[in-house]
Amino acid sequence: MDLDLAGKRALVAAASRGLGKAIALRLAEEGASLAICARDAERLEKAAEEIRQRTGAEVLAVPTDLTDYEQIKRLVRRAEEHFGGVDILVANAGGPPPGPFLELSDEQWQAAFQLTLMSAVRLAREVLPGMIARRWGRLIFSTSVSVKQPIESLILSNSLRLAVIGLAKSLANELAKYNITVNSVCPGPTATDRMKGLITAQAERQGISYEEAERAWLSDIPMGRLGRPEELAALVAFLASERAGYLTGTAIQVDGGSVRFPL
Ligand SMILES: NC(=O)c1ccc[n+]([C@@H]2O[C@H](COP(=O)([O-])OP(=O)(O)OC[C@H]3O[C@@H](n4cnc5c(N)ncnc54)[C@H](OP(=O)(O)O)[C@@H]3O)[C@@H](O)[C@H]2O)c1
Repeated sequence: MDLDLAGKRALVAAASRGLGKAIALRLAEEGASLAICARDAERLEKAAEEIRQRTGAEVLAVPTDLTDYEQIKRLVRRAEEHFGGVDILVANAGGPPPGPFLELSDEQWQAAFQLTLMSAVRLAREVLPGMIARRWGRLIFSTSVSVKQPIESLILSNSLRLAVIGLAKSLANELAKYNITVNSVCPGPTATDRMKGLITAQAERQGISYEEAERAWLSDIPMGRLGRPEELAALVAFLASERAGYLTGTAIQVDGGSVRFPL
């Protein structure tokens, strides 16, 4: 299927590795130009160069801490100045830490609020005026399967990501008249550095080996394996395309069947 992304300009947040990088690579393969960000400038530039080499796409790398509004404004300004606009926003960010409810402090809740909800709010706020003026846009919020079924020990994710879903659903209603679609993607356990960190943390908490902790995660997944980042990226590329023009207000999981509810 031709996704017609040639000439489109995408901003993919938190894209130096893991899910964000896979999404950036896939959009570039489909012909989009890219602005990408993350905090570690060296690793970010390495990812940008790899995507340029593999796809020939134009990739602008802007080191950014997504918990800092001034840096988000600068990121969007740099992307808009460089490409003349942003057509596709993929609002992704690092994940909040695991931990039992009674051990999480107010400061950890505040930090997770900034990282998970406010980065999504601020990225959308900064790119939307241009999309509205051009009467075309794609907002894609990358959340987690935790919005459909809470994940043990990830209470910050289970709680704050639902606010992102509320934001996305509200924006979908508000923005449809401008030909802007708004969707959320909800990855299940996917093989990235973050997933390795979560399995390691669980192994330490329960005094079991990494392999045992990994088996426990896999036992909850009907497909019996972790997802591959490119499997989420394929959905994002479709949602970003002209082909998905009537698809808005959804939250779609890519989780190997982990969510046991019918919707
Ligand atoms: N992998 C999974 O199984 C899974 C499942 C559900 C949801 N998720 C969620 O999806 C998101 C991405 O996960 P992942 O597995 O791809 O994680 P990852 O492999 O750890 O990659 C995280 C990316 O985010 C960047 N980042 C982290 N904090 C940032 C900040 N404050 N500002 C800017 N960039 C930041 C990192 O670069 P720097 O460190 O250099 O900033 C890196 O590029 C997370 O929110 C995660 O919780 C993941």
